[in-house]
Amino acid sequence: MDLFRKKNVRSLIDTSRRNKGLKRELGVWDLTLLGIGAIIGTGIFVLTGTGALKAGPGLMLSFVIAGLACAFSALAYAEFASTVPVSGSVYTYSYVTLGELVAWIIGWDLVLEYLLAVSAVSSGWSGYFQSLLGGFGLKLPDALTAAPGAVPGKTTLFNLPAFLIVMLITLLLSRGIKESKRVNNVMVLIKVGVVLLFILIGVFYVKPTNWQPFAPFGTQGIFTAAAVVFSAYLGFDAVSAAAEEARDPARTLPRGLLYSLGICTLLYMVVSAIMTGIIPYQQIRGHEDHPVSLALQIAGQNWFAAFIDLGAIVGMTTVMLVILYAQTRVAFAMSRDGLLPKWFSRVHEKYRTPYSVTWLLGIVAGLIGALVPITQIAELVNIGTLFAFIMVSVSVIILRKTQPDLPRGFRCPAVPFVPAASIVLCAFLMSQLLWITWAAFLIWLTIGLIVYFTYSRKHSALNASKAH
Ligand code: ALA
Repeated sequence: MDLFRKKNVRSLIDTSRRNKGLKRELGVWDLTLLGIGAIIGTGIFVLTGTGALKAGPGLMLSFVIAGLACAFSALAYAEFASTVPVSGSVYTYSYVTLGELVAWIIGWDLVLEYLLAVSAVSSGWSGYFQSLLGGFGLKLPDALTAAPGAVPGKTTLFNLPAFLIVMLITLLLSRGIKESKRVNNVMVLIKVGVVLLFILIGVFYVKPTNWQPFAPFGTQGIFTAAAVVFSAYLGFDAVSAAAEEARDPARTLPRGLLYSLGICTLLYMVVSAIMTGIIPYQQIRGHEDHPVSLALQIAGQNWFAAFIDLGAIVGMTTVMLVILYAQTRVAFAMSRDGLLPKWFSRVHEKYRTPYSVTWLLGIVAGLIGALVPITQIAELVNIGTLFAFIMVSVSVIILRKTQPDLPRGFRCPAVPFVPAASIVLCAFLMSQLLWITWAAFLIWLTIGLIVYFTYSRKHSALNASKAH
């Protein structure tokens, strides 16, 4: 069946070795820092606001639940990354296990996830940027501060700072960005430094009475918030993308994935505990876009609040950079496989970057960030990510059955139970999302199927090579 034609794992690995020959330079801690670098961003600096409004102080448990769903998925990612250490992430994993149609759906889903993640982060970036400007007594005209309908009682038309930052990043990416260990380590230092600063100062202003009642909206509120803050963990899959550059991936990759997740889960729990301990959660309403610095402002620490704004801005900038980069590379891989037009994988002669697709995706992400309110974007990112996580877990179970003898550097423990637990948890978190998110997701997938059957199926590289 053409629809389920698959790529061959061994030839894929051979081709990637021939083509790239990347240096294996990253050890456990480099990978951990890479993970933390890609993970900490809007989730902690922005979404904690919306999360707290849904769960109250129980938000800290929401972070544990979302972290657990990610940990199970991370184990599945680790097995794949060590078995099929080539680019394309879950899109490539599903191409070798479930065949072309499913791979297409996943690739299409990743476009939604990454693109909207950039938009969501840009909106969060804008909130912090404006809060920082406010510290200097500067203020943009209301109309240019947020997406239409984002702030009740205020007429807003276009989120100008969000749009401009994405354009700036797109410009950088299109000119050729080299991810280096050093730059990433600096980025992580700034972000983790700011988070630790918040913890060290904030802890003195916690009023335990603010933690009562702990779960004003019950367990349901805690689960709903878990689905909302889920994207705080998004980015750990970037560790699996480094499979070709990891030393001894069998050992280092799973650790890098799990350490970065573990550290971030811990930081997230502490930050959400302190934040809800300083501000009665109801007071966050209207300030959802910068709840962490708001907490310090309420504590009367305006100077430190400004410092947090600055750190958050730097941190979120790099998250957008890495995710937009990942997005363009997934689209690039899909185009190289023939599933998207060749135009998408055209490389600029001078800059050696997929120039056209970088600009296309950058402009689309920028416009969405400027025109759509953040909560709606955040939910769509989550549904896309959760779907991708489920597919990785499904693929692990299937590949164990269909190709049991393939060399696996790392084996996910207790297959099929751990992947099954990931599937159940992710499906549960998906069920917590709003029906409108589901509707938008299904419409997006339907458009994807139409594109596949009218274009991609005919133009697939497997059509020409008959290599399946
Ligand atoms: N995890 C990333 C963030 O929270 C996407 O910004």
